[in-house]
Amino acid sequence: MTAPQFSNDFILELEQLFSWRRDVRHFQSKPVDNQILDQLLSVASLAPSVGLSQPWRYIKVETPALREAIYTLFQECNHQAAQEYASEQQQLYSNLKLSGLNDAPHHIAVFSEANPQQGKGLGRQTMPETTAYSTVMSIFSFWLAARAYNIGVGWVSILPPEKVKLILTVPKDWNFVAYLCVGYPQFQNIIPELEEKGWEKRNPERQQWIIK
Ligand SMILES: Cc1cc2nc3c(=O)[nH]c(=O)nc-3n(C[C@H](O)[C@H](O)[C@H](O)COP(=O)(O)O)c2cc1C
Repeated sequence: MTAPQFSNDFILELEQLFSWRRDVRHFQSKPVDNQILDQLLSVASLAPSVGLSQPWRYIKVETPALREAIYTLFQECNHQAAQEYASEQQQLYSNLKLSGLNDAPHHIAVFSEANPQQGKGLGRQTMPETTAYSTVMSIFSFWLAARAYNIGVGWVSILPPEKVKLILTVPKDWNFVAYLCVGYPQFQNIIPELEEKGWEKRNPERQQWIIK
């Protein structure tokens, strides 16, 4: 097969895709076609992985009781997290919306198999955590591909992994990596929401190399 030559216009559009990817927490109720979700998963499955182990496991959480249990867990953890900030930051924290769990039409839980047979252990003897890194690579591919379809993804990490595993009854050796809210965003923004709300901003030093 002939490898494509990407045009300058494509490169510029691709850079816009990176710039306009957001962590989305405000969703329209309209569901995403299953075919598009399938396409996103197949793009995610093209991600690099240690030893070609493809350790990611994507669960579509559709059962209302399970979704509700995760949302309740999030609310508890989010409330507890707020208490851990000093009082002057608590107000700012409570103004943040840190998940779209209540309105996202799709909930996707992503796990990473700790010791998959696929890949035959190659590349991970000294760094077993590379299976989780591989899963994160696939999530980022999913996230960017979703943005190309104008679909938003929001990563929820304010959850205790062991409780998530119990709720979703997954095998013991699957590590919880991410709980994703997926759907059409209510709005698009080039500025991260945490920056708009005054919580944090990007640091230009992170665009600089450290030379040794
Ligand atoms: C590992 C990881 C965990 C995250 N967890 C949460 C979360 O629990 N709640 C949330 O609102 N955003 C979460 N985010 C999204 C970040 O807040 C977001 O990426 C960051 O503010 C930059 O915004 P942007 O993604 O729109 O550029 C997470 C992102 C990553 C990569």
